[in-house]
Amino acid sequence: MTTTGSGASTRLAQRDWLTLEQQYYQHTFARLPVTFERGEGVRLFASDGRVFLDLVAGIAVNVLGHCHPAVVEAIRQQAGELIHISNLYVNERQVELAEELYQLSATATQDGMRSFFSNSGAEANEGAIKLARKFGKLHRDGAYEIISMDRSFHGRTLATTAATGQKKYQDTWQPLPDGFIQVPFNDLEAVKSATSAKTAGILIEAVQGEGGIYPVTPTYWQGLRQWCDEHDLVLIADEVQAGVGRTGKFWAWEHFGATPDIVTMAKGLAGGVPIGAMLAGPRADIFEPGDHGSTFGGNPIACAAGVATIRTIKEQHLLEHATAMGAYLRGKLEGLSVKYPFISGVRGLGLMMAFDVANDRAAEVARAAFEHNLLITNAGPRTIRFIPPLILGQGDIDEATELLDNALATVAR
Ligand SMILES: Cc1ncc(COP(=O)(O)O)c(C=O)c1O
Repeated sequence: MTTTGSGASTRLAQRDWLTLEQQYYQHTFARLPVTFERGEGVRLFASDGRVFLDLVAGIAVNVLGHCHPAVVEAIRQQAGELIHISNLYVNERQVELAEELYQLSATATQDGMRSFFSNSGAEANEGAIKLARKFGKLHRDGAYEIISMDRSFHGRTLATTAATGQKKYQDTWQPLPDGFIQVPFNDLEAVKSATSAKTAGILIEAVQGEGGIYPVTPTYWQGLRQWCDEHDLVLIADEVQAGVGRTGKFWAWEHFGATPDIVTMAKGLAGGVPIGAMLAGPRADIFEPGDHGSTFGGNPIACAAGVATIRTIKEQHLLEHATAMGAYLRGKLEGLSVKYPFISGVRGLGLMMAFDVANDRAAEVARAAFEHNLLITNAGPRTIRFIPPLILGQGDIDEATELLDNALATVAR
């Protein structure tokens, strides 16, 4: 029986959701045994009365925390005016969001990037792959191949699975679409050797997320840019996880001194409402009517939430805040790694942090944290990942450190 929430949710909480989920939902996810009935800021309120400190943020989605008033109000207002119109007509909220992204991506030497909106990160990457193939057709005699990186993650559709550099996501689905190869990360010579007459572009996360929070080096990133310029390839930055301020810059690539041709986004862009975006800079902005589309992409509600999210990030200086809180969190994690030697390799940028756990015990650590009312998640078997809301405060980090310390003590033995 729940101890929080309204009468309606109290009634609902009395159903056995965990059993019902097994009965009615496909067994796609190994979920933790909890249902939540409410979220506010960095807290999630479970139906059984527990209150969790949430450093997962819907897997890097709730950048403003749960139910931020600006996002709630934008959704509420838009839902009362116009929910969906299709892409047959000009959509004011879509234009507003594209304008924000254009302005954010404009530099002293280059116009901003224009947007195409979809509904997820995988779909954003599909758009980028199609755009790269069109670029290859026009500029490189029909080249279509994409070079991506070992340990990368680009989504669950067939093409994005083929682009993902992790065998565990690929094996079951062979044969995968043709035209994708992977090379070691942060190795420019490997990209050079893999480039052939078939190559159309390079797809890369400036900070690998699912692969374990690994940033590119500036020399590598700038080397990729130069290689793409010399050989007329497109450089595609997958910012689905690292974008929207998570690393302390709006896009992670801004840390590394060169601008990509195409940028993909999703997750945090609309503060929790499903959205994807594929941005093209002047060199790659070559889609024409009929080339690409999406029924829901750029839906007014998603775009209204996106505009509210970006404006809130700007107004509340959340990029600077993420940088400061990231440094504070790093110090705390380094402290824990001294106390618990089975933790090592504290790394990351801004509020995209990680550490490794010896003997592939990351899932065990995440579970122990869960038992202590702290939500963190692993990235692979040996890495714990921190992708909290950008509104996370110093007091929250202190509390999270204490909870994690208590949890680690139960794993340490
Ligand atoms: C870097 C990156 N690209 C693409 C995706 C796929 O996004 P979605 O799950 O929205 O399709 C993810 C999801 O985790 C991601 O981290």
